[in-house]
Amino acid sequence: MCGIVGYVGSNQSVEVLLGGLRRLEYRGYDSAGIAVIDPDGELHTRKRAGKLQVLVDDLEALTLANGSTGIGHTRWATHGGPNDQNAHPHLGDNGKLALIHNGIIENFAELKAELVAEHPDTVFTSETDTEVAALLVGLEYQKTGDLSKALLNVVARLHGAFTLLVLHKDQPGVVVGARRNSPLVIGLGDGENFLGSDVAAFVEHTHRAMEIGQDQVVTIRSDSVTVTDFFGEPVDAREFEIEWDASAAEKGGWSSFMAKEISEEPAAIANTLIGRIVDGAVKLPELDVLGPDILRDINRVVVVGCGTAAYSAMLGKYAIEKWAKVPVDVELSHEFRYRDPVIDRNTLVVSISQSGETMDTLMAVKYASEHGARTLSICNTQGSTIPRESDAVLYTHAGPEVAVASTKAFVAQVAAIYLFGLHLASIRGTLEPGEIADLLGELSALPAQLDVVLEEQDAIKQLAGWMTDTRSVIFLGRHAGYPIALEGALKLKEVAYIHSEGFAAGELKHGPIALIEPGQPVFVIVPSPRAKDSLHKKVVSNIQEIRARGARILAIAEQGDAAVLPFADVVIPIPLASTLFEPILAVAPLHIFAMELAAAKGLDVDQPRNLAKSVTVE
Ligand code: AGP
Repeated sequence: MCGIVGYVGSNQSVEVLLGGLRRLEYRGYDSAGIAVIDPDGELHTRKRAGKLQVLVDDLEALTLANGSTGIGHTRWATHGGPNDQNAHPHLGDNGKLALIHNGIIENFAELKAELVAEHPDTVFTSETDTEVAALLVGLEYQKTGDLSKALLNVVARLHGAFTLLVLHKDQPGVVVGARRNSPLVIGLGDGENFLGSDVAAFVEHTHRAMEIGQDQVVTIRSDSVTVTDFFGEPVDAREFEIEWDASAAEKGGWSSFMAKEISEEPAAIANTLIGRIVDGAVKLPELDVLGPDILRDINRVVVVGCGTAAYSAMLGKYAIEKWAKVPVDVELSHEFRYRDPVIDRNTLVVSISQSGETMDTLMAVKYASEHGARTLSICNTQGSTIPRESDAVLYTHAGPEVAVASTKAFVAQVAAIYLFGLHLASIRGTLEPGEIADLLGELSALPAQLDVVLEEQDAIKQLAGWMTDTRSVIFLGRHAGYPIALEGALKLKEVAYIHSEGFAAGELKHGPIALIEPGQPVFVIVPSPRAKDSLHKKVVSNIQEIRARGARILAIAEQGDAAVLPFADVVIPIPLASTLFEPILAVAPLHIFAMELAAAKGLDVDQPRNLAKSVTVE
């Protein structure tokens, strides 16, 4: 989960690299470094542990010579702790070559042993797998005199997941990259070209981008881009237009990206729906590739995802089973492919991923395809790997999500999978057109309703301010409220570092109620009292059970729900919505609460400790 930038052009490479790393810092931020070739053909590298700003300050003091060719890296440590020595770039060919890497080279120990056996005088300056790759490419360059060939020869020997960028002082004006199971995209400029882990690396310079496929090598010069496979055979790479601009990835005056992105939750839903609801019907032409027959014939859907994406998958389960009457299983991606799941041609595996680079989910999708299932990706990042590995993709249009904690992407994912559920219901005739139109009306009403919820921000901020000493929080939800309980707990863990747990409210008396002691804060997502089922009454009973044992009740309940008032210490009202739509309104207060509590504790809500935005290693 690192951020990678490459540049060749006439601009000042140091500025281009640092600007790109700044936009990629959410991918990993425990150390950073750059390498540039200056106009005299000298190679300069600087790398420092700590956040990017440490490197920037260092460079200002150092005034590193600028040049036209450079690579940059911001790291999330895998092999070797976060320190100056393990930071990237790493050097080869006696310091004439610099290399950066995102991923894990699984056979690096064997390669290192072979290297030492052949070259006993090899000196290692770090504990990393990356340095082994740099030394190997350096040795290959000494044989071939050609950087692209040198990298090709080495990647053929690597196992695992990797994106590698490399430059050599004897080849100014050239950066070569290779990828396997790890992200890399090309930015196409005018007299300059870029490489990046994602388009954020270069979006301020160009909106033209090009995908790089699995097991491919790219060579960029200021006026040319060449892509080959790992055998050196040229391949066609697809060009695409980046939909958003650099300002979308800026904080724009907000205190944090997380605050900005929570405020964008209504727009994230609205933009994901744009063009996909026509005359009260769902229009998803991007799914035509799956064909109506396939969607009519599937007898099972498996939705895979990790973390927050798994919780939007759970809501998708409720919706698809209710509307399309197709059995749905939700699986954590990293569990799915190791349990020998029973899947076949009649299984549709839907993956949900904001980044489109989560290795666990990518591997699950590959497994599904290899075992005959059709695959659909719900993803927020154009040109990312998971959509490319899927039969079809339904993009969410939440815009770039920079904060590690996923917020607007979550509500956009739910909107997308609900659209898919209604599309499936329409094809299979399990809902009448009028019913579909009504449900689409409820879906379309969500952005305005979310705006109302976001107006409660100050009350939630005040609540968070009272709870900075809290050591644990419990979240309860039932039916479609249960995934929201899990999501609320995850957010509090990841940004406020508070032990939190989400439970299905009905599970309480089967054990978890033993956790309740006087003063224990418990968030409860209360179902609508207007719903036909008796869940509202059951959840109010759950509230009474825990209140009787001293719990502090923080209820998220429908505007005007009088039944909750006598038993809740705090009530956060949300607008009236039916069972499957209420969760999208209930999640926003929990996102706000986690963010405000983290901020009140003085924590960095955008870059929480130990985490990265995209987990591109298994
Ligand atoms: C959510 O706030 C976390 N950052 C994390 O659980 C995330 O949802 C998970 O890693 C999946 O990421 P993806 O959506 O990019 O695949």
